[in-house]
Amino acid sequence: MISNTQSGTNVHEIADGIYRINTPVTLPGAGQFNFNQYLIVDDAPLLFHTGPRRMFPLVREAVGLVMAVEKLKYVGFSHFEADECGALNEWLAAAPQSEPVCGKIGAMVSVNDIAERPARALADGEVLKLGRHSVRWFDTPHLPHGWDSGLMMEATTGTFLCGDLFTQGGAGETPLVESDILGPSEAFRAPMDYYSHAPNTTAILERLAQERPTTMACMHGSAWRGDGAALLRALAGRLHADQLRLQDATGVARPVQSRAMPEAIEA
Ligand SMILES: [Fe+2]
Ligand SMILES: [Fe+2]
Repeated sequence: MISNTQSGTNVHEIADGIYRINTPVTLPGAGQFNFNQYLIVDDAPLLFHTGPRRMFPLVREAVGLVMAVEKLKYVGFSHFEADECGALNEWLAAAPQSEPVCGKIGAMVSVNDIAERPARALADGEVLKLGRHSVRWFDTPHLPHGWDSGLMMEATTGTFLCGDLFTQGGAGETPLVESDILGPSEAFRAPMDYYSHAPNTTAILERLAQERPTTMACMHGSAWRGDGAALLRALAGRLHADQLRLQDATGVARPVQSRAMPEAIEA
């Protein structure tokens, strides 16, 4: 369903009670791109990512097609960056009962200063009950970027709110695909590398893979359905290969973690 014909903002249910809001944009010099937010409709509704501040009217209009905006309870996001949380205070004003939801680092270094209300700061592994849905927070420092980075898994639908992982360029016009997204997202990453390439990347991806998500709610591009563990391990393999190439080129010693790669990723 299109919520705004001028911008092309559209809303689709990609898992039971989970709605993807997509807005295509044209970036100067970089062509078509897209921003997605995910709305979990439940007793305590959660919006994961606010969208950039200037996009707030479009995202609010889209949320309003699905539920009463003022009933929103949680405004969650992965890390402190404009497309993740630029419209945080606008949402806090629009939904007077709502709280920011982020990790402990995010609350400490940014959110509890910037936001109009204090954050509900989740510890690594903490579960937030929304009603029949619940989300678990995973600290993912520097994955793909930001010390404060974390991501959420929704338990009942197996949906991984995977933020900037698997970012695909273009308009993201197809809400949910089962075809390969690693190829398109790696094609995007090659010229616009947005990863921190930190030494903990492989271990974090393996921990997320062990949750066996079945839907990837990508922040940029189509959401995806399939074997999420295999997809996450495939991404870990690509990143690890990059790391080895870089180390071979620079002569810098490999971190201990790269010698402890799980066999599945080495293969
Ligand atoms: Fe980001
Ligand atoms: Fe993003």
